[in-house]
Amino acid sequence: MKNVDEKIFFEAKVRQKADEFNNHPTKKPVKLMEHLVKLLSWEKQTILDPFMRSGSTGVACVLQDRNFIGYELEKDFYKIAERRLTEIEKQTKN
Ligand SMILES: C[S@@+](CC[C@H](N)C(=O)[O-])C[C@H]1O[C@@H](n2cnc3c(N)ncnc32)[C@H](O)[C@@H]1O
Repeated sequence: MKNVDEKIFFEAKVRQKADEFNNHPTKKPVKLMEHLVKLLSWEKQTILDPFMRSGSTGVACVLQDRNFIGYELEKDFYKIAERRLTEIEKQTKN
């Protein structure tokens, strides 16, 4: 198995092609955000991202069993984040 740093380096590229509903130009790799979430918190703790944009930190929190609170000023990005979080919550519950 690759060590964590090697895996993140491999996956941590800015996306060239967005999801159909997410046109964020510099969306962070969720794997990178998961790594940071694990470094900085324990399971079940709550993480606040007051500038969440399309919600990558929130997705990482769901995947790593953290609670998440996010703020976003722009309605379109808020809706993208909401949709991503709803989808990832559905996936992790199944
Ligand atoms: C650089 S992006 C955040 C990236 C995100 N945290 C990530 O890890 O991918 C900054 C976001 O903060 C939002 N923003 C700026 N001022 C804000 C405010 N006062 N309250 C909520 N969101 C704000 C902007 O609309 C923008 O989407």
